[in-house]
Amino acid sequence: MIMRAPLSVFLLLVLVSLQPSQAHGKDGLHKLESLIQEEVLPFTQGFGFPSISSSDGELDIRGMQDGVEDVVSAWYLDDDTEGDQRLPYHRQPDDPVPLAKLLDLGLVALRLDAENHEHDENLTIIRDLRGYMHMDIVELTPKKMPNYETMIKRFFEEHLHADEEVRYCLEGSGYFDVRDKDDRWIRVSARKGALIIVPAGIYHRFTLDTNNYIKVTGKYDP
Ligand SMILES: *[C@@H]1O[C@H](CO)[C@@H](O)[C@H](O)[C@H]1NC(C)=O
Repeated sequence: MIMRAPLSVFLLLVLVSLQPSQAHGKDGLHKLESLIQEEVLPFTQGFGFPSISSSDGELDIRGMQDGVEDVVSAWYLDDDTEGDQRLPYHRQPDDPVPLAKLLDLGLVALRLDAENHEHDENLTIIRDLRGYMHMDIVELTPKKMPNYETMIKRFFEEHLHADEEVRYCLEGSGYFDVRDKDDRWIRVSARKGALIIVPAGIYHRFTLDTNNYIKVTGKYDP
């Protein structure tokens, strides 16, 4: 998966260089950007639709979206978020974002059985499909982290990856903020049982909420 982005960029460069009339100036650049987006997005989005093959036959991944609204919700952040990053910052009036819109951005939200995460065949299937070899479990809470306040500020720095990011909330809760296509921040609240896949190449950041506790597993970039 790490190889995929550079390879597709390379192929697109070849493609664009074969069409010199489109490769010049701002237009050419835009074209290249949109081609890269088109190349990357279906790959990340493909996960959500509608059934996928596994060695056991067909698995309806949409089944894992049942009840996801109970553990994932999203809204546009208020313009003024100058205070504590852990506050929800709903807009007035509230401006909720449906999960279908998150999927348009390539962000997949599923619901798994967090109680059973050690023996969950669905988690195994997802891991096999997406190549999540090693997943660490971390607990973020002031009790266990003397430098908690510094750490949460670090998580909250906006960034993006060349590879997708997966986070599975086993206990507690937290906020994954992602930017939409117009660069507006969407706050995604994930609670126990929520598995979130943030696609490659979109700006995001993480924070605990005011509960100050999350037990989360994921594939962390080395
Ligand atoms: C796995 O997902 C399917 C839906 O795709 C669901 O019916 C089933 O209950 C899930 N299994 C577990 C152990 O959560």
